[in-house]
Amino acid sequence: MKSDELYALLRRRGILWPTAELYGGAQGLYDYGPLGAALKRRIEEAWAAWFVGLSDDYYRIEGAEILPEAVVRASGHLENFTDPEVTCESCHAAFRADTILEKVRPEGVDGLTPAQIGELVVSHAISCPKCGQSTLSVPRAFNMMFGLDFGVTGRERAYLRPETAQSSYLAFPRMWEVGRKALPLGVALVGRAYRNEIAPRQLLFRMRAFTQAELQIFFDPAHFPVPISEVMSEPLPMLRVPRRARGEESPEWIRVADLRSEALPDFYLYHLVHTYRFYRDVLQIPKERIRLFEKSDAERAFYNRIQYDVEVHLESLAGYKELGAVHYRGDYDLTRHSQGSGKDLSVLTTDGRRIVPHVLELTFGVDRNLWAQADVHVIQEGERTLWKLPPPLAPVQVGVFPLLKREHGDYARSLARELLASGIVAEYDEAGGIGKRYARMDEAGVPFCVTIDGETVSQDSPQRDTVTLRDRDSRSQDRVPRSDLANRISNATRFPRPGAPFPTRAV
Ligand code: GAP
Repeated sequence: MKSDELYALLRRRGILWPTAELYGGAQGLYDYGPLGAALKRRIEEAWAAWFVGLSDDYYRIEGAEILPEAVVRASGHLENFTDPEVTCESCHAAFRADTILEKVRPEGVDGLTPAQIGELVVSHAISCPKCGQSTLSVPRAFNMMFGLDFGVTGRERAYLRPETAQSSYLAFPRMWEVGRKALPLGVALVGRAYRNEIAPRQLLFRMRAFTQAELQIFFDPAHFPVPISEVMSEPLPMLRVPRRARGEESPEWIRVADLRSEALPDFYLYHLVHTYRFYRDVLQIPKERIRLFEKSDAERAFYNRIQYDVEVHLESLAGYKELGAVHYRGDYDLTRHSQGSGKDLSVLTTDGRRIVPHVLELTFGVDRNLWAQADVHVIQEGERTLWKLPPPLAPVQVGVFPLLKREHGDYARSLARELLASGIVAEYDEAGGIGKRYARMDEAGVPFCVTIDGETVSQDSPQRDTVTLRDRDSRSQDRVPRSDLANRISNATRFPRPGAPFPTRAV
């Protein structure tokens, strides 16, 4: 489905809409309605169940969204978190340099200096996309953080956090103190991040306020044992720098065993496999649509040593799009915060070495992934729109219908209440014909529907207290005892976990 059509569908269903729509909207900001907000929460919980579930030593925290200036100075964001901005001297419109150079330089402008970008604008005779004049300025570095006047005097400077990761770095010394004082130590956080994007576009892909789910794993680079043998034969869809340089866009499937011999460390590969499996098995993205895109030295974020982005091919946005990444950040973060705060953040390892822990970051954009769930799983079958959401992600898990409102309504309502009480999200619906009700549930991604009919309520029927359970995707119907329903639905909608957490405590 094209991006416009998909957005129209999501808006019509009340899943999301522009913030302040009443006032014409605000660029790069979106609000979620009941279904959208519930789906977003399911995605966040599925992420946490999977990634925090990787090890007994990974924990989830929360952190404030406002950071004092000293934090973003130390982290490097004040200095480096910039995008090259080009303005038009005639109409004063502002653009990101990579956007206006998209046609002549599809690989982007990361790693180029403002002067080099300026030369490209001139040599390709790029004119202003808005007014058409050849009056584009030399690029300037535009800092993407939102600054705030903090406190009553307004003289203290603070910033909205540009990445949730910073909250986890700030938490490290306290988590070390209250924990078992051993590495690895994983700190996960799901929350809002804010960036004053120069050109917000592509709906949920370049927002100014968005949600990240990020796991920061603090570890000893000399000793981070992972059960690599468990993933050794897994093939991964890799698009590495040499292949990219040959102009290839599709990934090649390489087994972990072969990647291992090519200098990718075990701790990195192990977490890359589990990241890939999360997209394939939990988000149920077809594996042919996923690629692990290696960033070159020039393209990597300023803090990264190894970076593979997880990209998924989205029909609505006509190509591969980055939805998350695995970053090896070295000791950059704790070293910088040590210098910035004047506090020693080194720790003593169990074998008596003093080290600054390194960080492996697993980052995930929740809003982009919500869009991907619509792109990949909304299917148009003639007149019928079907949202084949993986059942554990479905915001409503079961629709409960009386076949006839008057005769079966009380029974159906009491069944819906019973399912809700056992933790299943059930929605009662008695409006319109049964076909219409199925269609509404299909469009909202509800994986199961239950119908109460004459047999269910009849005193004499051998099928008393049985209901019809319909499966959204196959449309098959099963007669199921009421007493089995909660179990069947809970089993199908439980968050998948990555298997047994690996035993870091033993090492
Ligand atoms: N802590 C690392 C970090 O923030 P990033 O590549 O800048 O790295 C991580 O962002 C993820 O956050 C991206 O893969 C993307 O899914 C999401 N993201 C980043 N900027 C975004 C934006 N403006 N709108 C929506 N999602 C965004």
